[in-house]
Amino acid sequence: MDYFTAKTFTLPELKGISAKNVEEHLKLYQGYVKFSNYIVGKMKELSLDSEKNAYELAELQRRFAFEHDGMKNHEIYFSQFEGGPAPLAEGGLMDAIKKDYGSYDAFLARLKAIAMTRGIGWMMLYYCSETGHLLTQWVEEQHVGHLYGPKLILALDMWEHSYVYDYPTSEKKKYVEAFFENLNWEKVVERFGK
Ligand SMILES: [Fe+2]
Repeated sequence: MDYFTAKTFTLPELKGISAKNVEEHLKLYQGYVKFSNYIVGKMKELSLDSEKNAYELAELQRRFAFEHDGMKNHEIYFSQFEGGPAPLAEGGLMDAIKKDYGSYDAFLARLKAIAMTRGIGWMMLYYCSETGHLLTQWVEEQHVGHLYGPKLILALDMWEHSYVYDYPTSEKKKYVEAFFENLNWEKVVERFGK
């Protein structure tokens, strides 16, 4: 029995991110779902003789966060485009942004700068309800550096597969700009939860 099912997304036509790139990217997302299920199933099977299969079990367990978080990151990523682009309205999230970054423009510049981090990974924005602060993070691959506790509210995929059909790697800044042009901030506000 599968634990996880691939979600479908109702995506509008995006500006600066081609349908071809989105189509290929969705296939990669489905791969994370498939291999999350594969690891769960395989570990159950190998656990029937956990002593004999100790090495394989340990390696599968070690890779589980990569597949699982890869699945969850992409679900947030694609859902952020649903409904089409929408600006960030005044309210709780905007207030938190102004408190922590001074202005919306300064905040956006900070997010874009983090997105330009060298390497493969994600620019992440979290909200910590315990402290009332927004936290940014660069997550390596799919899973290394995720913050435990704060809620992930915005996820920008900076793996090259996100833009490989549209921009050369030296122009990934254009992809970052396109991402924010297409972002439906209402989805981010929903996850922020206030
Ligand atoms: Fe991706």
